[in-house]
Amino acid sequence: MFPVTYRVNAAGHIEVGGCDLVELARAHGTPLYVYDEATVRQRASEYVAAMGGAGQVLYSAKAFASPRFLRVVAEEGLGLDVVSAGELHLALKSDFPTDRIHFLGNNKSIEDLQAAYRAGATIVIDGDHEFDLLRQVVPDGRRAAVMLRLSPGIKPDTHDHISTGQLDSKFGFSIESGAARRAVETALQHPRLELVGLHSHIGSQIFALRAYEDAMDIMLGLLAQLRDELGFEPRRLGAGGGLGIAYTRDDDPPTPRHFVETVLHALTTGCARRGLKTPELVVEPGRSIAGPAGMALYTVGSIKDIPGVRRYIAVDGGMGDNIRPKLYGARYEAFLASGPDRATNGKVTIAGKYCESTDILITDIEMPSLKPGDVIAVPAAGAYCLAMASNYNGMPRPEVLLLRDGEATVMRRRETLDDLLAAEIF
Ligand SMILES: Cc1ncc(COP(=O)(O)O)c(C=O)c1O
Repeated sequence: MFPVTYRVNAAGHIEVGGCDLVELARAHGTPLYVYDEATVRQRASEYVAAMGGAGQVLYSAKAFASPRFLRVVAEEGLGLDVVSAGELHLALKSDFPTDRIHFLGNNKSIEDLQAAYRAGATIVIDGDHEFDLLRQVVPDGRRAAVMLRLSPGIKPDTHDHISTGQLDSKFGFSIESGAARRAVETALQHPRLELVGLHSHIGSQIFALRAYEDAMDIMLGLLAQLRDELGFEPRRLGAGGGLGIAYTRDDDPPTPRHFVETVLHALTTGCARRGLKTPELVVEPGRSIAGPAGMALYTVGSIKDIPGVRRYIAVDGGMGDNIRPKLYGARYEAFLASGPDRATNGKVTIAGKYCESTDILITDIEMPSLKPGDVIAVPAAGAYCLAMASNYNGMPRPEVLLLRDGEATVMRRRETLDDLLAAEIF
């Protein structure tokens, strides 16, 4: 749940990356998001080491992206999965190596595809419409490197809203319905495409690796069919991202190494059994790299007691910087940054400051006694929090720091009130 450098320092405060979080909150204001560089490097390098020479690890930019963060990811040797011209623009401005970028998305516009082709990214085609658009995008006599996103018909054990690989999904060509096979034929006959691989992604926040073994089995069944019927064997096979992380002390997810080893084993044994050449494996984790590295800091403001009912502790952020509790029913832990080990004083509910009664970050959590001005730290807040942040209620988005060896570098400044007006025409 905590970054690898987490400790309680001599002052009794939470320290991450050698920095005292209470001091950071005081100096930079809250809400504040901090990322521990050592955790990002540890998670990323664990993926790369487990993969060895068997394939490629891409970081999924949708989990969280900022130039300095992407630099760390690139230094660890990862590629990048982007899903829009906006994410690609950020990657290019961050000097991310373009030959390591894959461009995904279920409804890419012609502008998205033009940007992806110009950048030299591998385009992961998600639907038939893209075959037509790519005729317009790729010049005569040239071929764009593409993969096809397939839907293996697997429903992993995770929240419905983050399950993507089942038949009834907006993503990918279904294997079960025959659409995947037809898409492979179309891609092979397309004059402007070079089909380099097939891809799948079954969902997110997955703990039971069995779902990946099942998906691999289905993908390899199709590969054998494609070899026998079309003489086609892909060079790359994508197994997606989706490895879960610990949000609470009860969560016990597999490690990145365990994930990669399981998928690789399913790939190599499945290929051997079917007499297939083993393609390069591509995985694209997001949450399991950014999630445990990030913590959110809030300051306690108003406290409302409803005797016998509930004690609300309101903080200065909420659904604008973390929509996950409301979107997926996500559960978090919270700690008093100035005394994480202090004895608890009963259950409270941590509310945000947005004008919605549903703006609750954590319902019924045991906390020590809290007073206005206290700083609360929420671990495992590095993925899909800031990435989905909004300016709802006219709230500027938080500042973001990268912490390393006692130094805090501002990765993204706090938005100003004028930033909120940047696109308005007066
Ligand atoms: C296609 C694709 N790849 C990778 C990811 C990253 O998943 P995660 O952050 O769970 O690792 C996602 C997220 O939903 C995705 O849609």
